[in-house]
Amino acid sequence: MVKDLSVNLCGVGLDNPVVPASGTFGFGLEMAEVYDINCLGAISIKGTTRDARFGNPTPRIAECEMGMINSVGLQNPGVDAVIAHEIPALRKVYSKPIIANISGFAVEEYVECCSKMDKVDDVQILEVNVSCPNVHNGGMAFGTSAEAAAEVTRAVKAVTTKPVFVKLSPNVTDIVSIAKACEEAGADGITLINTMLGMRIDIARRRPVIANKMGGFSGRAVFPVAVRMVYQVANACSIPVMGCGGVATAEDVIEMMMAGATAVQVGAENLRNPFACKEIIEDLPKVMERLGINSLNEIIGIVK
Ligand code: FUM
Repeated sequence: MVKDLSVNLCGVGLDNPVVPASGTFGFGLEMAEVYDINCLGAISIKGTTRDARFGNPTPRIAECEMGMINSVGLQNPGVDAVIAHEIPALRKVYSKPIIANISGFAVEEYVECCSKMDKVDDVQILEVNVSCPNVHNGGMAFGTSAEAAAEVTRAVKAVTTKPVFVKLSPNVTDIVSIAKACEEAGADGITLINTMLGMRIDIARRRPVIANKMGGFSGRAVFPVAVRMVYQVANACSIPVMGCGGVATAEDVIEMMMAGATAVQVGAENLRNPFACKEIIEDLPKVMERLGINSLNEIIGIVK
């Protein structure tokens, strides 16, 4: 029997729930040279800020067992260049939904970027990142306070008619209160989780592996934490959740959807295996057959 992989994110139809997570797929162009990226459900493009950013000093990556730490520091060419060059270039090779991931250091910066992205017809969803652990005075600072996350959400919603997903940090004690505050402030959906703050030390050199000392830990090891947070938020909120964190297989996608995710982002695994998203999408119908699932919509939040 033909399997139905399609899902709907706030009125945006996806052929399947698999979405490369922001920061692990660039602006899509390099990956388009590796395989036909039109097989993807959607793409969340590299986190974009108002001004161009060079990023953090190197080394920015520490490999770990079952994952990695990154401290890229939101390297990107700035919102105007992303709109003028990156998105049109992506559109030439990719016809499916684009999610613009926006970061900022002040509420006004989120507003300015979202207001510009609102006018871009090729962007279907805005993902407001209040959870980057790698930059000071911004990023995660907004995502660790319910009030601050709600303030960003409210301000951004006032300047766009596109669906707004707020991307939350796991580095908090009560994820549900932050997600609910975003929902009450008008968020159309929640993405979670971003990376967990981590650190490695080079014991021979007696110094941190990463120049910035700490960074965001992601990869297979965080999957159970992500499933737990998706489950908690999906059960507490009535807006859709995009699950993210340690997803590497079709089985992981199904598990995340059973926990309550409507779509599922694949992050660190893209860096380990550039074909990860494609392979997961190809495997999904086989895994659905094995588990007696005809439509992925049947299983969203099925575990209570
Ligand atoms: O440092 C970075 O560019 C990562 C961003 C994020 O984790 O949100």
